[in-house]
Amino acid sequence: MLLRLDKYLADLSVDTRSKVKLLIRKGRVRVNEQIAKRPETKIDTDADTVTVDGRILVYHPFEYYMLNKPAGVLSAARDKKQPTVLDLIESDRKDLFPVGRLDKDTVGLLLICNDGRLSHDLLSPSHHVNKTYEVRLDAALSPEDIAALETGIDIGDTSKTLPAVIDTPYEDTTHVNITIHEGRFHQVKRMFLARGKTVLFLKRLSMGSLVLDPTLSEGSYRTLTEAEIQQLTALTERNKG
Ligand code: URA
Repeated sequence: MLLRLDKYLADLSVDTRSKVKLLIRKGRVRVNEQIAKRPETKIDTDADTVTVDGRILVYHPFEYYMLNKPAGVLSAARDKKQPTVLDLIESDRKDLFPVGRLDKDTVGLLLICNDGRLSHDLLSPSHHVNKTYEVRLDAALSPEDIAALETGIDIGDTSKTLPAVIDTPYEDTTHVNITIHEGRFHQVKRMFLARGKTVLFLKRLSMGSLVLDPTLSEGSYRTLTEAEIQQLTALTERNKG
């Protein structure tokens, strides 16, 4: 791919587009060992070697991380008072953000990336991307509760929720998996509350094709594999059709 040098540097979060121009003009950027003084210099991302102050850059337009979010951490980019999920990720990029929100006490799968388009597609209400959560409740679900959740339930919004899927692979129905196709505010907790049950523990297991890696302990993360990125992208492309 061919890119202007200033865009190349800004994509890698070296600095803002205007500040990288200054770096270039000051002669701190080299392309294939030659000082490059023009921001519009074309870079071949597959072939050229770019350095800033002698540090070699490796071009990658986007970064994607799978985090097993621990409880007690906000799903926000930055917060002055409280720790956020981004404090857990070691990266030079300043444009990372969590894709959607989990409540502070919710644990499990959180995608963190700087790909605005993928994020938009995954969160868009019209795409109905499946999200599966493991839930522990203060009381067992009755067959009527399960039927209501699987039909669609009034949680006080203008429309009922879309039908959910309840799986019961555990010892009893105080502990279930629920798959929803929307992302309303506190949706899972409100759905169970509408049936008189309080959620005691909530963990996201999957989002679309992305499944929480069981080897990740709470608070740990890893980059997505190429296959995971392609599957996610393909999923949102397919849902558009
Ligand atoms: N639903 C909730 O109620 N909370 C979450 O964190 C995610 C889904």
